[in-house]
Amino acid sequence: MNKKRVFVGITGASGAIYGVRLVRALKSEGHEIHLVVSKWGAETLKYELGIDVDSLTHEVDRIYNEEDLTAGPASGSYPLDAVVIIPCSMKTLAGIAHGYADNLIARAADCALKERRRLILVPRETPLNLVHIRNMESVTEAGAIVIPASPAFWHKPKSIEELVDSVVDRVLSHLTSPRDTAATWTGE
Ligand SMILES: Cc1cc2nc3c(=O)[nH]c(=O)nc-3n(C[C@H](O)[C@H](O)[C@H](O)COP(=O)(O)O)c2cc1C
Repeated sequence: MNKKRVFVGITGASGAIYGVRLVRALKSEGHEIHLVVSKWGAETLKYELGIDVDSLTHEVDRIYNEEDLTAGPASGSYPLDAVVIIPCSMKTLAGIAHGYADNLIARAADCALKERRRLILVPRETPLNLVHIRNMESVTEAGAIVIPASPAFWHKPKSIEELVDSVVDRVLSHLTSPRDTAATWTGE
């Protein structure tokens, strides 16, 4: 299997479970995970899932502080295969759309764009204002893939995890390869 080195950023948008499920799926496939949880990402982890950032340490290969701009992923020369921000707040989306890289998550995304590497953003907000929509347009024009945290229902999910995984599987299919367990529309 082609093992990838993936940077995962979890920001303070609702839906911390999307980030945690992605980390677990990447780990189960043997990929190398470099994780940053923003200050507000840590708050939503605690509030929504009752866990703290430290509990994710053993699930990843490297974990960094969002303020640490001396870390490897702050440089485009650092060999990452992909950067995923999941969930991605409108604030972090705005930073990426405007090249305002004031923390390690926004900087890793900025580097992915300049090095023409895969950048996947999973934004979560509703309703969207025109600024949000324009920022999604800008990052798409710059090369990012926007996969909204907008789960499907056609596979008849029986749990929140199955619902969440309909988004996580779409991310994985753009990162590595489709999972065997992924819900796939067959047209029948
Ligand atoms: C419980 C909670 C839920 C939030 N949900 C969202 C959300 O769904 N989308 C969003 O863009 N911001 C949301 N926010 C606001 C962000 O956390 C805030 O804009 C923050 O500055 C984002 O910073 P970060 O991107 O560095 O994590 C939420 C905040 C809290 C406390």
